[in-house]
Amino acid sequence: MPDRRYSIRTVLELFQSVLAALEAMLCYPSAIRGVSLNSRKSGWYSKRQVHRPLEDLADEIRQSFSLPLNVQKMVVMSNEMQAQYREKLERSENTMLPSHNHALPTGQEEGTYLAIDVGGSTFKVALVELRGRSQGKDCLKIVRAHCAVIDNSVRCLPGLQFFDWIAARIEETIAESSDTQFNAEKPCPLGVSWSFPIEQTSSKGGKVLSMGKGFQCSKHTVGQDLGGLIVAACQRRGLNVCVDAIINDGSATLLTRAYIEPSTTLSLILGTGTNASIHLPVSCFGREKFGVRDPSWYAQAQKVITNTEISLFGRGILPMTRWDEQLNREHTLPDFQPLEYMITGRYLGEIVRLIILEAVETCSLFGGRLPTSLVDSYSLDTAFLAILESDDTPLLSNASTYLEKHHPHMKRPTTTELAFLKEVASCVSKRAAAYLAISIHALWTLEKEADQENSLTNPSEVCGKTTIACDGSVINKYPGFRQNCTQFLADLLEISLAGPESSRETIVLEPTHDATLLGAAVAVAICEADGSC
Ligand SMILES: *[C@@H]1O[C@H](CO)[C@@H](O)[C@H](O)[C@H]1NC(C)=O
Ligand SMILES: *[C@@H]1O[C@H](CO)[C@@H](O)[C@H](O)[C@H]1NC(C)=O
Ligand SMILES: *[C@@H]1O[C@H](CO)[C@@H](O)[C@H](O)[C@H]1NC(C)=O
Repeated sequence: MPDRRYSIRTVLELFQSVLAALEAMLCYPSAIRGVSLNSRKSGWYSKRQVHRPLEDLADEIRQSFSLPLNVQKMVVMSNEMQAQYREKLERSENTMLPSHNHALPTGQEEGTYLAIDVGGSTFKVALVELRGRSQGKDCLKIVRAHCAVIDNSVRCLPGLQFFDWIAARIEETIAESSDTQFNAEKPCPLGVSWSFPIEQTSSKGGKVLSMGKGFQCSKHTVGQDLGGLIVAACQRRGLNVCVDAIINDGSATLLTRAYIEPSTTLSLILGTGTNASIHLPVSCFGREKFGVRDPSWYAQAQKVITNTEISLFGRGILPMTRWDEQLNREHTLPDFQPLEYMITGRYLGEIVRLIILEAVETCSLFGGRLPTSLVDSYSLDTAFLAILESDDTPLLSNASTYLEKHHPHMKRPTTTELAFLKEVASCVSKRAAAYLAISIHALWTLEKEADQENSLTNPSEVCGKTTIACDGSVINKYPGFRQNCTQFLADLLEISLAGPESSRETIVLEPTHDATLLGAAVAVAICEADGSC
């Protein structure tokens, strides 16, 4: 797309570069013979010059991405994040949202439950068996599961037909079960993981909101009770079920790990996007945050699982490089999700792409020619960064193979160029791990302090350990990410906790799989156990 602003900018930059080169020639004749001059020391070079040595840019990148990663500074940032969280506990419609789920599992819940997970592109249904925490590794098990692709034809099913399609998939799974429980008079309890907007009215009820993503179903069902729609569809097929829990992926991840490991009070999703859930005392929220709830809810609830929407925090706290500023400026929603723009899978690749753009222009990376496949925003996948960082071959041939496959019209980069990209990836990902650690440390501190203020026992006091349930490709699969984040957390704990306390506390990031199904089943079991079903 021709962009007039771009061409004006280019002309201006060219002019500035020529000026800078002239200045350099006059003041530093050696520069024209290619001797690298450090721009920060000389103060003469404009930021963008015609032929900046690649190593010089690499230096600047190293510096600007690692500058904030000093533990003392990180502790200060964590304190500032806590203040932002606290403010939003009082008042905010977008963040720090208390769910209706208040109890974490005791680990003693037992039984077999149906769980479904309705996502944007897949539908899953499973029979989940809870055997009690004392059973160890196998205490929580998927006995049988089915997965169906939600393709366009399913997305286009209007109104009730979408729920009929769901009921048919549930029937298939039950039909295979010899378990008499599902043929009996008593309705079979079902847990629902729902990855779409919903106006939750209780832990098992919620009004359907517009689903987006091309789904036609919500058009005719907006405002209706999701549980009621599913139960009715099942009844039309002669299936006797009752929906006893509706949860989102953050709560599901927390409940799953908490069933297995009692020190779990937080969960973290970090893949394409990020989010975190935390178990906080009810009394640390402003009252209007709870909306309309039955008095019986307050009578039962001491703490509540809270959707932090953590991606929206960090503005004015987490330092940005000029490439972050560029990304933010060019974003359709500038400043909307400060943390998200610097740590998630959707953006890590884009930050590196912006750096590549500059390096092509000013350092003649790739012979000064930007591959057409990298012209569009978001055309560099974060997967490439992960491959670069895990590539230990001397010539970085794995990364090279990736580029050949995904960017076929690109001239093969030199090993020096690949090494530069690897270093850039490392700077960007390491800072992401640090910013995540700061945000988590702040949540962890908030929870501990809030428990203290309310004379509640925090599980970490019992065992000296806090487990954070993790889901998502970046935190669970990006090479070195979880390890680095864990190390940053340990460093933060050491500085922030004075005295003997510091040697007793650890924060463990624990990958948690199949949480949408397992967690939905755990939510049902909790509701049966505490009698709220
Ligand atoms: C929180 O963010 C994650 C990642 O973007 C998303 O998958 C999840 O649905 C969000 N949770 C809620 C309750 O909206
Ligand atoms: C390179 O890629 C291959 C195939 O994906 C993989 O098996 C191998 O472990 C990788 N090697 C390195 C050093 O990254
Ligand atoms: C982890 O830290 C190492 C050492 O500083 C660094 O090379 C690597 O790129 C980092 N990776 C991530 C994902 O943070």
